Amino acid sequence: MPDNSVLENSVPLSIEWKNDELYLLDQTLLPHNVVMERQETVEQVWQSIKMLKVRGAPAIGVAAAYGLCVALKDETNLPIGEFAQLVEEKAGYLTSARPTAVNLGWAMNRMSKVVKATDLDDPAVIYNRLIGEAKRIHEEDKALSKGIAEVGAPLIREGMGIMTHCNAGSLATSILGTATAPMYKAYEDGVKFKVYANETRPLLQGARLTSWELAKAGIDVTLLTDNMAAHMMASGHIDMVIVGTDRVVANGDVANKIGTLGIAILANYYEIPFFVACPSSTIDMDTQSGDHIPIEEREGDEIIHVFGAQVAANGTQTRNPAFDVTPSKLVSGIITESGMITAPYDQGLKEFFEGK
Ligand code: MRU
Repeated sequence: MPDNSVLENSVPLSIEWKNDELYLLDQTLLPHNVVMERQETVEQVWQSIKMLKVRGAPAIGVAAAYGLCVALKDETNLPIGEFAQLVEEKAGYLTSARPTAVNLGWAMNRMSKVVKATDLDDPAVIYNRLIGEAKRIHEEDKALSKGIAEVGAPLIREGMGIMTHCNAGSLATSILGTATAPMYKAYEDGVKFKVYANETRPLLQGARLTSWELAKAGIDVTLLTDNMAAHMMASGHIDMVIVGTDRVVANGDVANKIGTLGIAILANYYEIPFFVACPSSTIDMDTQSGDHIPIEEREGDEIIHVFGAQVAANGTQTRNPAFDVTPSKLVSGIITESGMITAPYDQGLKEFFEGK
């Protein structure tokens, strides 16, 4: 996909590294305010990840990689042993911000390997190498999304209705998104289709982010509340589902935003193809099945209040799991940067990494 694609002029970047400083787009303020917030401390970066100012599996990996540089910037006078220890400590701290997206730990491992692989003993030089690695992770993420766009776009045909859930868009990555990448490519190729974006309770990523970013790019997008999915499928509006993911594991089970499992079950009932789009950085071959994926449980206050307005009585008991796991048998295919993986997933995923 060309660098000056329609998207790159329409949606603000979620992450920028400028003059040795990290800026994150505060996604909690979207779509009303577009604010890039300078990150001055590693604690601020941790909070930005935790509070979903920066969100989406690939984006939090990139943000944490730069966040580690923020943590180390004023520490290059430390003796090398202490510096290396600090890298591990801050990498662990950033990983702890959110447990489900594997990209966070993946990015921290890459950063930590830079330190482990060197016999240099000057922290200032190693710090520069860490900045180089963070920039590489960022650039690679752009390329991964472009690959997903190429692989997934042929699935989208004239006149289709495509459902998506949460925001696996440009905002959730460095550019183009994952679930949305094939949509941007098909749109650029002149294919006419409709996207149905589920609002995605409780934090409304579909309403606030997906419907905003796709409309800004000129894509025909219609917002639905989550409980409309069955009706829209039953009434023939949906030909395909494409979602993103926070972690695909070795047997092909997929963790994604809460509500995804219900959509996958519905899609199966109505015989609608259900695709998952993700870069290889979201695939965790060390975890054997979805039962072992850590599911983030967030504060109940997020569902007692809806963006400032209280909707349930004080003291109401709540549950707030942020993700669910869709079993691989409900997945029609995993769209990656270098091809589509289909069942049997254990074999397909293994071959995918063997081929890399
Ligand atoms: O809680 P969020 O907003 O970070 O959840 C994001 C999702 O569930 C996305 O679908 C997933 O991270 C893929 S982003 C390309």
